[in-house]
Amino acid sequence: MGTPRKATPVGQAELHVDGRVLNLPVVEGTEQERAIDIGRLRDQTGLVTLDYGYKNTGACQSEITYLDGEKGILRYRGYPVEELAEKSRFVEVAYLMVHGHLPRAGEQQQFSELLTRHSMIHEDMTQFFKNYPERAHPMAILSAMVVSLSSFYPELSQDHVSEELAHIDITATRLLSKLRTIAAFSYKKSIGEPYVYPRHDLKYCANFLNMMFSSPVRPYVVNPVVEKALNTLLILHADHEQNCSTSTVRLVGSAKVNLYAAVAAGICALWGPLHGGANQEVIEMLEDIQRQGGDTRKVIERAKDKRDSFRLYGFGHRVYKNYDPRARIIKQTCVDVLRELKVNDPLLDIAMELEERVQNDDYFKERKLYPNVDFYSGIIYRAIGIPVDMFTVIFALGRLPGWIAQWKESQEDADFKIQRPRQIYTGPTLRHYVPIDQRG
Ligand code: ACO
Repeated sequence: MGTPRKATPVGQAELHVDGRVLNLPVVEGTEQERAIDIGRLRDQTGLVTLDYGYKNTGACQSEITYLDGEKGILRYRGYPVEELAEKSRFVEVAYLMVHGHLPRAGEQQQFSELLTRHSMIHEDMTQFFKNYPERAHPMAILSAMVVSLSSFYPELSQDHVSEELAHIDITATRLLSKLRTIAAFSYKKSIGEPYVYPRHDLKYCANFLNMMFSSPVRPYVVNPVVEKALNTLLILHADHEQNCSTSTVRLVGSAKVNLYAAVAAGICALWGPLHGGANQEVIEMLEDIQRQGGDTRKVIERAKDKRDSFRLYGFGHRVYKNYDPRARIIKQTCVDVLRELKVNDPLLDIAMELEERVQNDDYFKERKLYPNVDFYSGIIYRAIGIPVDMFTVIFALGRLPGWIAQWKESQEDADFKIQRPRQIYTGPTLRHYVPIDQRG
């Protein structure tokens, strides 16, 4: 793919500061998104910009994902996420993210073969799982294991980035395949069952389900509806442009560490309850509502109370000011899976009632807070049998192709720079050291 295409200059903006006028270029992307290029601002004025949470800051130019939060549009490499969720499989989408085009038959086969070849983890790594405490969170294990991969597979991480980029298919499939195995092993460890090794005859999602749920005394039969649902969920999580964890991968990667270290940092960012960890918080919130008699009004009132830090998990998004297109698909998948598995989960009824109340509540309407990707996904995971603390692990599995693609793109960008923001210092001005016996 090489360096990402650059936005087109389409005009100029004038900045009036300290009696001077500065002309700043205005650039436009392929979907008519426009930005003021402030690349020379500090050189020319000594000023920097101040933008908490980067709400107004474009940190890169990217060809990977297009997102319009006002219209509820999400496309990977130009393809609507709805089409990919319906017609594609996760492995094909992973290839698309990394390479920029849908694989031809030969490319698909080669990619799948590499996934199979790299599915085992070094046997010595299985020892690590044994020493984690019983209640260790699987996201902690996942992140630690991923960074450990760099010691077990140094042939790619030795010369760091250039080797990893030169062998991107091996890098990508090694991570995609091993993350799945590590995720399943960490679950087996948490329930005290023996690890189930990957099978060459099963496709990506079926293989994961088998590693999670089969045991020496109980073979697991993969239900095609469940396999399809997992494919859909992973596809819907595959990328989301410059979100918190992806920005973390780009930022950590900008120091030229190996990809394993950058992805491990992304996993830690995803763990947070304001990001990927919200899917776990949603289920815990719904269970809490159920325990307290099922009244959804109380949590809505709590979420609106400015003296209370509580938030309605699964609602709101930094960029979506409309219904998250992923949430719509996940809601339907949720209904389909529960019907197929004949599961009657009272949490689904509570979730639907909560959504309806929120939709009719002025607080949420004014702030354009809609269900996000995390709101219904947990109910599907529960129905499949995935425990709550594994939810964010599944999210990480899905997000991995996006992290790899974004890392690759950032490394190949002709304008590559180590990421190093500025600040406005507001601390004490110059003062001098006072010996301890003279301090007041
Ligand atoms: N419940 C109650 N109020 C909310 C919620 C919520 N879930 N989300 C936003 N608000 C309110 C804020 O209090 C604020 O109100 P104010 O204008 O009166 O101060 C307003 O809506 C804007 O919220 P911000 O926090 O400024 O929006 P931001 O873009 O910074 O945050 C975020 C986005 C973190 C996702 C937020 O909506 C949130 O905390 N949601 C709950 C956690 C969650 O579901 N996270 C998953 C996001 S999807 C993902 O990362 C995969």
